[in-house]
Amino acid sequence: MLFRVNDLHVSYGNIRAVRGVSFEVDEGEIVTLIGANGAGKSTILNTIAGLLRPDAGEIVYNGVDLVPLDAHQVVQLGLALVPEGRRIFGNLTVYENLRLAGFQLGADELNKRIRRAFERFPRLEERRAQLGDTLSGGEQQMLAVARALVTGGKFMLLDEPSMGLAPILVQDIFEMLREINAQGTTVLLVEQNAHMALKIAARAYVLETGEIKLSGASTDLVRNPEVQKAYLGG
Ligand SMILES: Nc1ncnc2c1ncn2[C@@H]1O[C@H](COP(=O)(O)OP(=O)(O)O)[C@@H](O)[C@H]1O
Ligand SMILES: [Mg+2]
Repeated sequence: MLFRVNDLHVSYGNIRAVRGVSFEVDEGEIVTLIGANGAGKSTILNTIAGLLRPDAGEIVYNGVDLVPLDAHQVVQLGLALVPEGRRIFGNLTVYENLRLAGFQLGADELNKRIRRAFERFPRLEERRAQLGDTLSGGEQQMLAVARALVTGGKFMLLDEPSMGLAPILVQDIFEMLREINAQGTTVLLVEQNAHMALKIAARAYVLETGEIKLSGASTDLVRNPEVQKAYLGG
């Protein structure tokens, strides 16, 4: 198993946002964690990425315990977070955003990765000198994913990449994720958009108020009446 979270507990003061969550991701998989607003999705991803410290539990990647590591060390191990709300730098150009994402790399490696990111996202290359703020929502999301590609990593963590995007752009973004996965990147996707997430992921976990309520193959979960009622509009 590439990645495993075991009995994770995370709180903000006395708010217990994540309560005993366990799940696994195997190498090469796309796994999704679906849940409504406030279920604890971002808390879980931010804890994995080293931005929050858990109260208890294990987070193991490639045999390494991530819990004591800071965000920078987690990136160095090969995990790349695409945070909620994209968080690109609006006052920097597309190119500058990408350079910043790879600041720790040598010039040759950085240029190579930026070139590869532009090959995957030609729309971004056309807009390389454009400021982040002036990109459309879909382009900003592309930039957020491209940035994670430049940072590098075998394991990409995505926090609601569909948020705020028109359905056609959501399809584009998910198609890109599928390609990135096909080329060897393992993906953990958290989403409110259960419909799309269950289409792209082979396996899924359903998160409700900080706990995993259901899990299984996506093809089974889409047929589950509880999932249909709560997440797929009946
Ligand atoms: N910085 C914070 N301080 C206090 N409570 C927080 C903070 N961030 C999130 N929460 C609470 O933790 C719970 C889970 O939030 P979050 O992980 O953001 O959910 P999701 O990403 O699934 O919408 C919610 O009840 C939310 O209000
Ligand atoms: Mg969130």
